Amino acid sequence: MNINETTRIGILTISDRASSGKYEDKGGPAIHDWLTKAVKGPWEAVARVIPDDEALIEATLCELSDREACCLIVTTGGTGPALRDVTPEATEKVCSKMLPGFGELMRSASLASVPTAILSRQVAGIRGRSLIINLPGKPAAIAECLQAVFPAVPYCIELIGGAYIETHPDFCPAFRPASAKRENA
Ligand code: MTE
Repeated sequence: MNINETTRIGILTISDRASSGKYEDKGGPAIHDWLTKAVKGPWEAVARVIPDDEALIEATLCELSDREACCLIVTTGGTGPALRDVTPEATEKVCSKMLPGFGELMRSASLASVPTAILSRQVAGIRGRSLIINLPGKPAAIAECLQAVFPAVPYCIELIGGAYIETHPDFCPAFRPASAKRENA
């Protein structure tokens, strides 16, 4: 991908109540705010708010990856043990590879603030040239989880043929092996 091309990032809120208007979607805007602080260079959000419906989650993830060409898709909600929580199942169905380190690290980072962090079954995986990352629905969880895993995200996206993402180093330094660093980037 050309370094000057705008990076597209999918932000998917999965919640019966937010999608029906019973309450305001706070998760999607919290992801947008966090990414605005972290990502350097042009990027645009492709945002969706949908109910906890497994087939619809799968279809929306496929659309954001295949048609909207998002190199990163961040979901929020539906990762817990409740009957309607099916985000991890839908994510696994549409991915060709899973990246278990993301879920492990996010749960471990979240445990520093809440013992219920272990209730999130959040996963991450690869579909085509997109990295998909699940976050819990609580807005407070968003910064905690992204802060933990995002340093590895730009290099992961590069490895799957996506955009070359740079970050604001004071807010969230991206890590790339020395052999992968670009001279003028
Ligand atoms: N992680 C962080 N960082 N902060 C939180 O408040 N809430 C937990 C957990 N992970 C939480 C968290 C709770 S209470 C639940 S039930 C699970 O995430 C799943 O949340 P979800 O179903 O909204 O995705």
